[in-house]
Amino acid sequence: MTARNAATKEELAETLSGRLHALSEANGLIRRSFGDDVAAVASLGDLVGCILRPHGVATSHLNGPPVAIGEQAANHLALVFHELATNAAKYGPLSRDKGTIDVTWSVDADRLEIGWAETGAEAVTAPTSTGFGTKLVETTIERIGGGIRRTWNPGGLSVVISLPLASLGR
Ligand SMILES: Nc1ncnc2c1ncn2[C@@H]1O[C@H](COP(=O)(O)OP(=O)(O)O)[C@@H](O)[C@H]1O
Ligand SMILES: [Mg+2]
Repeated sequence: MTARNAATKEELAETLSGRLHALSEANGLIRRSFGDDVAAVASLGDLVGCILRPHGVATSHLNGPPVAIGEQAANHLALVFHELATNAAKYGPLSRDKGTIDVTWSVDADRLEIGWAETGAEAVTAPTSTGFGTKLVETTIERIGGGIRRTWNPGGLSVVISLPLASLGR
């Protein structure tokens, strides 16, 4: 799908290597514990951090309780955060000095809610057409049984992702 949506070989190489890098980073965070139960887990905070740090977003902008996520969920979420970060760098606050992103998450009963709030962007409006990145994000969230809502504020995009805790352990 990445290949079909690239206009040039160079663009294909760049987007594919970005996505593979996000997956590789996610897998680098996975800790395996062998014992009575075999589990492979990563921390949500570490995952968001390793994707946003190269974009200059400080850890102080990431806030939420410790949440352990399984290998599969970590791979899915790495792709989602990578697409959001890439867009923020292309069109949003990370393309300007003043902009930033706050990511907050909370656990409520059986769901995890993640808020992604961009600020300091300029004159953002809802796009009239979307690309493959949006499709990848939607499909990926759907695969882990979640939902996503975008709000286009003039100062930046806000995203709320809601996921069932049950799907995070996988
Ligand atoms: N963070 C953002 N801030 C402002 N505009 C955005 C942001 N993310 C996406 N957009 C708009 O939504 C469009 C669709 O994004 P996407 O599906 O990722 O495709 P692409 O990145 O290939 O353009 C972009 O072309 C852009 O106009
Ligand atoms: Mg994109």
